[in-house]
Amino acid sequence: MIDFAFPGIKLRRGRVVASMIVLAVSTLAFAAPSMAQTFAKGADVSWMTQMEASGIRWSNDNGTQQDLLQILKDHGMNSIRLRVWVNPSGGWNGVNDVVAKALRARNAGYRIMIDFHYSDSWADPGKQTKPAAWRTHTFDQLMADVYQHTFNTMNTLATNGIFPEWVQVGNETNNGMLWEDGRASVNMRNYAWLVNSGYDAVKAVSANSKVVVHVSNAYDNALFRWNFDGLRANGARWDIIGMSLYPEPGNWQTLLGQAITNINDMRSRYGKGVMIVETGMTSTEATASKAFLTDLITRSRNAGALGVFYWEPEAYNWQGYSKGAWNTNGRPTIALDAFIEGSPPPPPPPPPGSITLQENLTGFCGVDGTIDSNNAGYTGSGFANTNNATGTTVRWRVNAAAAGNFTLQWRFANGTTGNRPGTLRINGANGTTVALPATGAWTTWTNSSSVTAALRAGANDIALVATTSGGLANIDSMTASGTGVSAVACN
Ligand code: GCU
Ligand code: CA
Ligand code: CA
Repeated sequence: MIDFAFPGIKLRRGRVVASMIVLAVSTLAFAAPSMAQTFAKGADVSWMTQMEASGIRWSNDNGTQQDLLQILKDHGMNSIRLRVWVNPSGGWNGVNDVVAKALRARNAGYRIMIDFHYSDSWADPGKQTKPAAWRTHTFDQLMADVYQHTFNTMNTLATNGIFPEWVQVGNETNNGMLWEDGRASVNMRNYAWLVNSGYDAVKAVSANSKVVVHVSNAYDNALFRWNFDGLRANGARWDIIGMSLYPEPGNWQTLLGQAITNINDMRSRYGKGVMIVETGMTSTEATASKAFLTDLITRSRNAGALGVFYWEPEAYNWQGYSKGAWNTNGRPTIALDAFIEGSPPPPPPPPPGSITLQENLTGFCGVDGTIDSNNAGYTGSGFANTNNATGTTVRWRVNAAAAGNFTLQWRFANGTTGNRPGTLRINGANGTTVALPATGAWTTWTNSSSVTAALRAGANDIALVATTSGGLANIDSMTASGTGVSAVACN
């Protein structure tokens, strides 16, 4: 689909240079490919080339050195995010460095997000410093600057065959960008118009790229409403709301819950897509980080979000940054495994539960007779010795997590007096008869044959009822087996 709406037509008050339109026409032939719909799982790896240049390398989980992008792919990543600075000292994150990394990502099969900071260095909620070259410019010039810088960078990417799926216009613009002119709390209209300058330049080069406006603190619904209400009221255009979320091990559940609420509100309030474009947690808290990331991916996707990006997971021993997902031995932390879904396969269902109820434990409910310990060889503290009469019982109580078939078995001893069977009574209903034949001596203990018993969900009363005048054999214990079985106190 080719969009012939040229950028200058939509650009409010911004001047459009003729050469921009020529460039736009020349690149429209490279229509962006149809965009994948699967959930984006990504990493911002903007430090990659600079780290490599300083000698840093990465290893996989087994300790084998590998290309960073391969390691990330093997951990379920499908997207790469790269920041752009206007004229950075040293060149890192300038256009050439960005193109080099984008080509590596593209050739490795990644989807790509480009993140314009509109600064020569970091732009975030605490600083939105104009590029040095723009510092003396009027607001009209700043809009043209944003347009031209965005357009030129996008065009350079396009000439390399790269049409990013997502493009951020501004980075963590909680209070706008290009201060003071674009400080949202002072001039929301200027902020909105700067966003539109970037939006138009993105679409001029790559009509299918989705434009992202990015605000930090995903849990702060009031901040997001203030920012995007202001943009909307001033006619700003954007496609996706980007969010940052950097919780701590002690508060991630709370902040994630609030972020999910915010995601739902943003989607319904503005009818736009939402992405977590930055997240991270202290690398030394990898267990908590993995739990957080697993929940973040699952819950944000269920809430309709489009993706989750980890910010600079490859950082280790680097510029004091502590929220990467890498160990100092060069291997990823287990936090990165949160991006692997479906692999490794889920653990097999737990083996059936099994409980052996002794006379001294919860679940043993009594005997018409005595608890004895005079015939050695029993387990636990003794055995149940019924009165020698028909109808005497030994009783237990077990809980089943769900209704189903369970296996019951008794350990018993029975001298030489012949079979002293019991009728199995479950929840008051008599069922099968359990044979308890002679064992040759009262000190010779053995297991009865197993009985399959249908139990209801919840507590079940189980009894053996003597069917002969000798009473039951001596009963050492009952074992109940099956998924979700447990002992429960008697009434
Ligand atoms: C013996 C044995 C008891 C048993 C009893 C019986 O006395 O020691 O444990 O219960 O026989 O025949 O019931
Ligand atoms: Ca007895
Ligand atoms: Ca016992």
